[in-house]
Amino acid sequence: MLSWDEFDQEESPAPALKSAEASPAQETPAQLDLAEQAPIETPSSVANSTAQQAANYKSTLGSMDEKQNATALQKAIEGLEDLDVAEGMEELEGTANRVAVDDKQMINCRADLNQLVPFKYDWAWQKYLDGCANHWMPQEINMNADIALWKNPEGLTDDERLIVKRNLGFFSTADSLVANNLVLAVYRLITNPECRQYILRQAFEEAIHTHAYQYCIESLSMDEGEIFNMYHEVPSVAKKASWGLKYTKELSDPKFDTGTTENDQALLKNLIAFYCCLEGIFFYCGFTQILSMGRRNKMTGTSEQFQYILRDESMHLNFGIDMINQIKLENPQLWTDEMKEQATEMILQATQLEIEYARDTMPRGVLGMNAAMMEEYLQFIANRRLVQIGLAEQFQGVQNPFPWMSEIMDLRKEKNFFETRVIEYQTGGALTWD
Ligand SMILES: [Fe+2]
Ligand SMILES: [Fe+2]
Repeated sequence: MLSWDEFDQEESPAPALKSAEASPAQETPAQLDLAEQAPIETPSSVANSTAQQAANYKSTLGSMDEKQNATALQKAIEGLEDLDVAEGMEELEGTANRVAVDDKQMINCRADLNQLVPFKYDWAWQKYLDGCANHWMPQEINMNADIALWKNPEGLTDDERLIVKRNLGFFSTADSLVANNLVLAVYRLITNPECRQYILRQAFEEAIHTHAYQYCIESLSMDEGEIFNMYHEVPSVAKKASWGLKYTKELSDPKFDTGTTENDQALLKNLIAFYCCLEGIFFYCGFTQILSMGRRNKMTGTSEQFQYILRDESMHLNFGIDMINQIKLENPQLWTDEMKEQATEMILQATQLEIEYARDTMPRGVLGMNAAMMEEYLQFIANRRLVQIGLAEQFQGVQNPFPWMSEIMDLRKEKNFFETRVIEYQTGGALTWD
């Protein structure tokens, strides 16, 4: 572990000094020249003489280095004399004051975004803390049972194998699409530091999710090209990916900026597309299928990876919904009837694409479920997404055919789940001062 006590210890000698004393075999040509010029000496005086030469040499080198260092330092200091503080802060025009809570806004905010506190949106900061408290890594999960089952020709049915491959194909790239949307499109347009703090945490979690899928694919010795390129090759996967990508494209244009009703609505649509539709609907058929497999004691390692990911994703979804509703609250002019209609249409489109994905991945009944049951589940999920952002339900009388999914996602149980883990992360242990 990194310890502040180590700062009190004396610094060790400089590496150059140590090698000159301890290893004559590593002498530089300059050192050899010095040795050749030395007079012949008796064996007893050789050690003292060599040490003296080394000291002289170090002194010569030291004074050369000192001169060079002094020149470099002088140049650096001269450069600082020309530093114009105002010039560096030009980008932050109008933000030179201490930030007050009332200065803060979700979008189009003029207050300094580098001042994290005082917090305005406690829900965002709390989610950041919760996300950090739930940290996990894919290598913690034992994949041995999955490897044995996958290699055994009798281990899984063809339909079960199709489900594993399709879902690894979809998710291995879907989380990259989400991460790219966050860092290339959304981050700069959300003008609140506590939300940005969570977005940075979320972006890292998306990287962990992509890592988890890669870890499963590698563990099972799958054809990596086939799996990672599936979002180009398999229509039901490709449609979901391209549906999301079009929303990233508009906002990732460096010329795009918020500040007009049309553009603010474009940002809102992007958030609805990614949080409500991609993370809130497109993930649910796959999660249900893989977790159902785990409940039947098959592919338990892969299923556990998905379980951890689902817990992260349910927090991403809740954060996104909070952001969308806060933007609506602060900018009611954006939430027009036309916008509500478009948002409803987006959620219905996403539901339809996910139903097509369910049919493609489950041509027959498998794992105690079938495409018709999944269709009802997705309609149930779609109703929830609509209501969560203040829109009317679109599917009457649908029920949740998989109530066990709600139990897995229940965040109140999350604490106990993570308390059972005894993992020491090597974040501090890997540091040395040598
Ligand atoms: Fe993710
Ligand atoms: Fe996510």
